[in-house]
Amino acid sequence: MKNVLLFADPGVDDAFAIIYSVLHPDINVVGIVAGYGNVEVEIATRNIATILNLLEVDIPIYGGANQPVSDVYVEFYPEIHGVEGLGDFEPEGLGYQLTNFTDVYDVFNKYEDVSVVEIGRNTGLMIGYMLGKQKMEQAKNYFIMGGAFLTPGNITPAAEANFYGDPVAAKFVFENIKTHVFPLNVTNSAYVTPEMIDYIIMYSPLEKLKQPLQLMYNFYYDAYQELIPGLNGALFHDLLPFMYITNPEMFSFVEREIYIETSSGPGRGASIADFRPRYEADQAMLDGEEEIKHKIALQMDYNEFFRLFLETFIRNLPPEAGE
Ligand code: RIB
Ligand code: CA
Repeated sequence: MKNVLLFADPGVDDAFAIIYSVLHPDINVVGIVAGYGNVEVEIATRNIATILNLLEVDIPIYGGANQPVSDVYVEFYPEIHGVEGLGDFEPEGLGYQLTNFTDVYDVFNKYEDVSVVEIGRNTGLMIGYMLGKQKMEQAKNYFIMGGAFLTPGNITPAAEANFYGDPVAAKFVFENIKTHVFPLNVTNSAYVTPEMIDYIIMYSPLEKLKQPLQLMYNFYYDAYQELIPGLNGALFHDLLPFMYITNPEMFSFVEREIYIETSSGPGRGASIADFRPRYEADQAMLDGEEEIKHKIALQMDYNEFFRLFLETFIRNLPPEAGE
């Protein structure tokens, strides 16, 4: 079983990633830190509680960051994820118990081999690491969705949304923590077609989940038809770190240092790595004074993505989860 501490900002693709991780038999989500990003932190928190309630699972939700450290201005994206963050699905106004952020460090006492997955802005992760470095260093791996290397951004010509949202935090993360990164280079292939959703609506045993999945997808699909005209589906970026955790062989990586542009100009949030042909030769000349190198996913096997998506979303809940 792969234990995961998740940082998320639901968001339609975050919501699908949470559902995927709970339904996958080899993944055990031990806590979710809610952060601002696609929506305000309060809405993100309520959305996580709504999804967990639908799944009838009891996973601690920790209160995360409510604004970036880069500046005080926060931009949300209702045109992509809906005003409430879950497309056309209206989340319940249910109560939920929020655990203090500082309690997040307990997961490292309670569970072995915890991997951290970050699928939102990097603010909460940066602050969590700064305040609790010794605990956070116990994490087995760090998996980050974000960035765009030598390829256009999705929020500006230069930047991907998660790094654009708080470039100072993303820069801190890459300067201090060794990660596997899943940028747009690979997530631009993570498209889910309407037929894939039809299939899971037909075969999922979880009746309660069907309408929310359909309503979230419909809105997100329409948004993607505007964002990337001609795309046969919508991009589910946030699923990829979870697919890597159980099926690493479906991805290919390069290993590089990562630099994040923190200026407020048109390059804000851009992710840079050295892809010059002479990179390998230059590395051989170095005398050990290297910065942290990260594994950057550049490609994946789409057939595996397709199979894992369908297989996992038509699963029943794990027995201990209540159904
Ligand atoms: O750029 C894709 C990322 O931005 C995803 O995490 C998505 O949820 C959005 O916030
Ligand atoms: Ca996200």
